Amino acid sequence: MGDKINEIYSREKTKGHGYVGLYFFSRKAFLPLDPLLIKDILGKDFAHFYDRGIYYDEENDPLSAHLFSIAGPKWKNLRAKLTPAYSPVKLKHMFDIILSCGRQMSDVIGEISETEGEVEIKEILARYSTDVIGCCAFGLECNTMRNPEAEFRQMGRRAFTQTVGDVLKTIIIRSFPSLAKCLGLGIFSSTVTTFFRKVVRETITYREINNIQRRDFMQLLVELKNNGKISEDNSDENKINEEPGTALTIDEAAAQAFIFFLAGFETTSTTTSFALFEMASNSKIQQRAREEALKVLSNHFGKITYDGLMEMKYLDTVVSETLRKYPPAPVFLRKCTKRYPIPKTKAFLEEGQSVLIPCIGLQRDPEYFPDPDLFDPERFNEKNKENIVDGTFIPFGSGPRNCIGMRFAMIQSKIALVLCLVNYEFRLSSRTKLPLKMETKGIILTPIGGLWIKFVSRNK
Ligand code: HEM
Repeated sequence: MGDKINEIYSREKTKGHGYVGLYFFSRKAFLPLDPLLIKDILGKDFAHFYDRGIYYDEENDPLSAHLFSIAGPKWKNLRAKLTPAYSPVKLKHMFDIILSCGRQMSDVIGEISETEGEVEIKEILARYSTDVIGCCAFGLECNTMRNPEAEFRQMGRRAFTQTVGDVLKTIIIRSFPSLAKCLGLGIFSSTVTTFFRKVVRETITYREINNIQRRDFMQLLVELKNNGKISEDNSDENKINEEPGTALTIDEAAAQAFIFFLAGFETTSTTTSFALFEMASNSKIQQRAREEALKVLSNHFGKITYDGLMEMKYLDTVVSETLRKYPPAPVFLRKCTKRYPIPKTKAFLEEGQSVLIPCIGLQRDPEYFPDPDLFDPERFNEKNKENIVDGTFIPFGSGPRNCIGMRFAMIQSKIALVLCLVNYEFRLSSRTKLPLKMETKGIILTPIGGLWIKFVSRNK
């Protein structure tokens, strides 16, 4: 999908077009190419593009009614309620949980390196992501790091692998949504959804019966279920307007934990994997990131802290450049919710029209990012960052419906990177197939054959 849209973006932009129309299965779709138009659609003109137009069926498939898919006032209300759950204050509370999953990951990298000599990093980071989300969003110690066949990991694999049946189902859902609803077709397999509903139900019940409180996302969902709002931390950012009578049902709470998993699992582990891959391929970048990490750590008594991570400016440029070159969500969606006059033209977009936002096209466009295949973190240093054309770097989307988990993702990814940098020196193994080719089956950018890296401990 990303490749195809990138191809159309490049071809049509070369012809001088600011937008084009195309068919997405049997439906018409609008593909804006001009970053100013894209910025307007996502931001200023948001009132015309409230929704994504993603299929959900609250009745037959309650987990599909999550923040990413729901629409209109329901989305607005839920977004306001969930925003405090992703605030820096709440993230700081979860920091130690994530760090402890990261430490296990680092230990396992060391153990595999000693016995096997090289590590397929995508699999290890998928397990790390599963543990982090299991702990933070579901309140479970899944320990997939040491038990790769744990049920949670298996469900993760199943949710992100498309079988032929899944592809057929997707085609019906995209092309004939009303028929899909009549047939009770769910996006995900019933094994996956039954598992997640059961986990959330059991965890919430267990906590309520035993009066257990933890500083995780599940606790915030329990608050939303019981009180319809999240308790404040005395910071303005967390103050929200209480709307009486809008507490979440248990299935609504389960759907929000599920989207944490869906939206956060592959995106974050893929980003971290590609950042390690690029640093393994370029020892100068790796060494500079390591020196910075060690220096910051020494200023924080040798500890990895939330504030310390914020001080690692070079690491931030490495992650940004990774997100530019390998956007985990290469294309994202909007649906026109109100007739839209396309600025500076006589054309209109009709209500109901799908809009595809070509994130990958913009981020790989040589006009905005010269030599786009080159991995160059300097594009994002303090000075150069200011010259980036507005609206051309949008890995987390933009406007009111941008990624709510952005801060969480950055913390999770940076913790893993810092642990790898301070504990190991690493280089690419010859088992990694170059140039990288991406799977066409998956939903997210995934390199064929995996990313194999050799790690050597720095602590011996
Ligand atoms: C590197 C990691 C990630 C990337 C690149 C990413 C990217 C995105 C993008 C492109 C969107 C759509 C934005 C738009 O339409 O304007 C999005 C939405 C969303 N993301 Fe993320 N994401 C990441 C991690 C996460 C994590 C860790 C979570 C949860 C903790 C998360 C939860 C969500 C949710 C709930 C939405 C829908 C927001 C809404 O519609 O109000 N994402 N993300």
